[in-house]
Amino acid sequence: MLKNKSLVSISDLSDDDLNNVFLEADKMLDYINSSKKLDIMGSKILATLFYEPSTRTRLSFESAMQRLGGSTISMADSKTSSVSKGETLADTIRIIESYSDIIVIRHPLEGAAFLASKFSSKPVINAGDGSGEHPTQTLVDLYTIKKELGEINNKKITIMGDLKYGRTVHSLLMALTRYNVDVTLVSPENLRLSDYVYNELKNKLNITISDSLEKYINDTDVLYVTRLQKERFTDKNEYSKLIGSYRITAKETEKMKNNSIIMHPLPRVDEISPEVDSTDKAKYFKQASYGIPVRMALISMIAGD
Ligand code: NCD
Repeated sequence: MLKNKSLVSISDLSDDDLNNVFLEADKMLDYINSSKKLDIMGSKILATLFYEPSTRTRLSFESAMQRLGGSTISMADSKTSSVSKGETLADTIRIIESYSDIIVIRHPLEGAAFLASKFSSKPVINAGDGSGEHPTQTLVDLYTIKKELGEINNKKITIMGDLKYGRTVHSLLMALTRYNVDVTLVSPENLRLSDYVYNELKNKLNITISDSLEKYINDTDVLYVTRLQKERFTDKNEYSKLIGSYRITAKETEKMKNNSIIMHPLPRVDEISPEVDSTDKAKYFKQASYGIPVRMALISMIAGD
């Protein structure tokens, strides 16, 4: 049961919770396709509190809430809010909780969403905390695999990109420990999974680590690509050296087997060439569109009556 619960880490959800979100998301997808007006959230208000840039996550939460018949308030830019006057996260949360029924927060610091959930009597959803986690993106990712490939079990999943700083990767890997999958991690050496994350996962997940995609691409069901997390690099020279160090082009897609898919949490920078978009492998825009039914399901399960 998710009612009134915060979602800070993907580990906050039980296996049943995950399945219930997916079942509910299917129903929401039907509603969206039938253009029926829903009034599940009535007079409820969802607040989005974003201390970092976002397009998809914030807008999809707001769109999802409005499709459910509820309304939204938003702090989309911390520079134009009282944060710029020095207000603490604790104080901001104490105020926002009295203005809303559910709070969605994105923050550059790991642990910020957890802290917010401790200060709030209203449920808090983590929409990304630094390099930490991004659990709702993982729900969207898993839902996409289920919709596009039928099931998650028995799949070979290759995750390529910035595994060190990428929070979507961290939550996704934690979630994949619940399934019977083979995971290959491909990245430049400097961007491998941090030891503390790897040690957490190594006994729970069948992981292979590589710096080359070549050996695995023709046997992969899901190729999950992420961008270099530019904003997390403390050394900008290090970032500059890594630009262009991995890239998926039409050449790679031709090596992929039938029914395999390419996913990306987006935004994409240059790690997937635009020519890939028109291939049947490219599912990243579809993946982004699943953000609406999945977030509708989650909001209604957490904050619905
Ligand atoms: C991701 C994020 O914010 O972590 N974006 C998103 O929410 N879809 C991925 C990224 O920014 O690279």
